[in-house]
Amino acid sequence: MRAFCSLLLLAAVPAVLAVKTQDFKTCSQSAFCRRGRGLSARAQEASSSWVSPYSVDASTISIAPNLASFTAAVKSSLYPDIKFGLDVRIHDDGVVRVRMDEVDGLRKRYDGAASWALVAEPELSSKIRWSVGKADVRAKYGDKKDVEVVVAFNPLRVTLLQGGKEQVVLNGKGLLHMEHFRAKENSPKEEPAGESEQVVMQVNNRAWFEGDSEDEYWEEKFGSWTDSKPKGPESLSLDISFPNHGHVYGIPQHATRLSLPTTTGENAYYSEPYRLYNADVFEYLADSPMSLYGSIPVMHAHSAGSTVAIFNAVGSETWIDVAHPSPKSTETHWISESGILDVFIMPGPTPADIFAQYTRLTGTPALPAHWALGYHQCRWNYISSNDVRDVQKRFDMEDMPVDVFWLDIEYAEEHKYFIWDKKNFPDPVDMMHDVEDIGRKMVVIIDPHLKRTDNYPVYQEANERGLLVKSADGEKDYEGWCWSGSSAWIDFFNPNSWDWWKTLFKTLPQGDRWSWTDSTIDTYIWNDMNEPSVFNGPEISMPRDNVHHGGWEHRDIHNINGMLLHNLTSQAVMTRTDPPRRPFVLTRSFYAGSQRFGAMWTGDNLGTWEHMAAGVRMVLANNIGGFSFAGSDVGGFFGNPDSEMLVRWYQVGIFSPFFRAHAHIDTKRREPYLLDEPYKSIIRNVLRMRYSMLPVWYTAFRETSVTGLPVLRPHYVAFPHDEAGFAIDDQFFVGSSGLLVKPIVEKGATHTTVYLPEDQVYYDYFTHDVHRGASKGKSVTIQADLHKTPLLIRGGSIVPTRERPRRSSPLMKYDPFTLRIALSNQDVAHGELYLDDGETYSHRDGHFVWREFIAEKTEKKSKAVRISSRNLAAQKPGEAVDGVALTKYDGSNDFAKSMADVRVERVVIFGAATKPASVKMGDSELQWEYTQGVAASDKREGMASVLVIKDPGVSITSDWEIVVQA
Ligand SMILES: *[C@@H]1O[C@H](CO)[C@@H](O)[C@H](O)[C@H]1NC(C)=O
Repeated sequence: MRAFCSLLLLAAVPAVLAVKTQDFKTCSQSAFCRRGRGLSARAQEASSSWVSPYSVDASTISIAPNLASFTAAVKSSLYPDIKFGLDVRIHDDGVVRVRMDEVDGLRKRYDGAASWALVAEPELSSKIRWSVGKADVRAKYGDKKDVEVVVAFNPLRVTLLQGGKEQVVLNGKGLLHMEHFRAKENSPKEEPAGESEQVVMQVNNRAWFEGDSEDEYWEEKFGSWTDSKPKGPESLSLDISFPNHGHVYGIPQHATRLSLPTTTGENAYYSEPYRLYNADVFEYLADSPMSLYGSIPVMHAHSAGSTVAIFNAVGSETWIDVAHPSPKSTETHWISESGILDVFIMPGPTPADIFAQYTRLTGTPALPAHWALGYHQCRWNYISSNDVRDVQKRFDMEDMPVDVFWLDIEYAEEHKYFIWDKKNFPDPVDMMHDVEDIGRKMVVIIDPHLKRTDNYPVYQEANERGLLVKSADGEKDYEGWCWSGSSAWIDFFNPNSWDWWKTLFKTLPQGDRWSWTDSTIDTYIWNDMNEPSVFNGPEISMPRDNVHHGGWEHRDIHNINGMLLHNLTSQAVMTRTDPPRRPFVLTRSFYAGSQRFGAMWTGDNLGTWEHMAAGVRMVLANNIGGFSFAGSDVGGFFGNPDSEMLVRWYQVGIFSPFFRAHAHIDTKRREPYLLDEPYKSIIRNVLRMRYSMLPVWYTAFRETSVTGLPVLRPHYVAFPHDEAGFAIDDQFFVGSSGLLVKPIVEKGATHTTVYLPEDQVYYDYFTHDVHRGASKGKSVTIQADLHKTPLLIRGGSIVPTRERPRRSSPLMKYDPFTLRIALSNQDVAHGELYLDDGETYSHRDGHFVWREFIAEKTEKKSKAVRISSRNLAAQKPGEAVDGVALTKYDGSNDFAKSMADVRVERVVIFGAATKPASVKMGDSELQWEYTQGVAASDKREGMASVLVIKDPGVSITSDWEIVVQA
């Protein structure tokens, strides 16, 4: 978090308060971005006479025997003496990886970004063959042989086609430019003027491409900071076009619309490019392409015909321009400060294919602990152990469910993380045990900056072991300001830091090594400030010329930095116990691959309606970036939202994968029990709603942990052919559950419109009102009084819930289930439920329950409906759980046995047209109640008939069948 106007902090951190955009660079304040945009402007001007100087030397093509990979030399006509190497590979799932690097250069470009993001080196296809022609190398593949990759020689151009249509084109606009390393002192003399006429021509001709000045090649100033840039210019410019795709999505994190607005061209929506440079942006804007805390350089391009995507594996600062030369095509321009070219092209062709392809590259999202999907109560700060106990008591007195209490930085003596301030927290372990009493947990903050002081064992050990990030000289430890005053930063790029960091979290003594014996195995972790945030650094971060392990500059790895802390902390928490238990670690900074390590939130938002709406879009964008476990601070970090806003914010929160309330130290307390009626009771019900739906969330998380399909799905993902839905980002589906949510993010709303993308019936979850979509899409009006979030169940879905109010989710472990069956237009429905112990990895050994519920006609022409439960785990064991290939599922596993007594206590069927003649299981009639619906009128589309089957006496783990006879 960042402070504002707190006197306490003004004293310590003079320069950084009351700041906004001026603290952060615009493109024109960044030399390499300026050069990149300059290049693009010259290309625009030159129009059709512009030709990329880069070409493939066809004589050097070397094709790997029996693998779909080749290398070749690349030259720039501007610098005939500089050598580049191209390496193109096709993976066995059809993903194309294009790499280019300078060969035998003066220095090495950073090439490690992908290695931190990828789970493994991808397998190359052994079936696809490259064929070398006069002007290009090409390969055809895919089930229908309709995918083709063409690498053209002169100029160098990489095209992915599908069905003969261009999907992705690299360097089609000729903006590829890899600035080669050069020597500073020689740089004026480097021009070999007068050597030969041809060379002179070339040299003089460089200006058309590179511009006529060496724009801040060797030093760059921003505010009072000077970046020494010892390696000189090494930026990378690349245009990536999607000639047949009118929408692009992704590249989180930005507070912007899901379908990314343009940044160049006529009618550009923003004048700045999207920026990826992880930063602690104080009071960020709710509509801006500015950088925020994390970066996932993944972009989807979508049209009704196909979806493709690219992952640009670069760890340095990157700016991205987006333009739509026509409504149905997109051009993007990526400008990075350093690093090799390493781009993965995902051919799709569906959104689901893209998620699978991306997940194979960067890993499946971790299946979270079940409790982590409950409600998290945080504040900067709960000030003492008795404060924590008191807050817990108030929740219990008000019968409001909550799973986790959080401690922000003030628990730590002088902000020395791990070290309790014993004045206010004299008994941390007792306090934690009090919280853990009914299965609740605590989350405590651990930041990556270490107070530089002798009486802090964590700093001392890191210092002694040489694990700290170095200043520009590469010798001295870097020193900057953060919460703890003068601080040093652990260099997680140093492998020696890894085991050391993990040992710190052990709750038992570790010999002469320090470890956190003042904690428990139910204490989980929050990693904040890991961009890293440095109060007195350039752009509130580390100088780019700081030096990390291996001699790499901070600029090379900046956007990856935060992910390493998250990774190591998550491993540390997981391996505190033997056998390991699922970790929970929240991070603010992230990169591609961070989904493997835990949850993220959208940082320090404002308590405004605008920010509430922005949070919904940002969480959706994060889901697109493969990182579903996301949420924004409920209530807003800054400010004092009124009761109405707070209610709406809780309604947003319960439909976020990660659900936490948090508030700045200067805000008034706003725990939900403090509200007046009716707000307090409304929020109690809202919290209970989240808890009742934990089975839905957990089941959606199982799916994403296997397939990568996001937990929150925007329209273009759920209905990829429905053009009218492509720009929609204020309503979404929850997993495959069929629940469609449109959170209210404005004051005084009583109604809202919801877009229905298909000719299908949707039921209001609360009122059972019927809404019918149309094949070309249709908007309907939904009631949205303060107590009600617009929530629809799509006809054809079965939604499992647990509706006994409890104080925490572990108390619900053996609670019975309700099944809500929303019959479709065709009188069918289906749904899923996944359960395991929610805490360990025993599910990987087959200890889980995975059911499918089906409603269908007993026979084609019959009006009778059969409802059944069957074991999905036995049908598709291999697809059941993350990480492991189970071949066989044993229905009598320990977990399933422990759940055998858990019943389905109610089955509720929406849309049964007539009162049943009987409802039977086998030969016995069940207890049921039928409420006739209301037929459609001019005013209303009617209300569904509802059939409630009471306590059918079946176990959630067994097969059963109920027949509803019309
Ligand atoms: C990060 O996580 C992966 C597991 O997902 C692991 O293989 C890798 O070595 C980890 N370590 C670092 C330092 O990133």
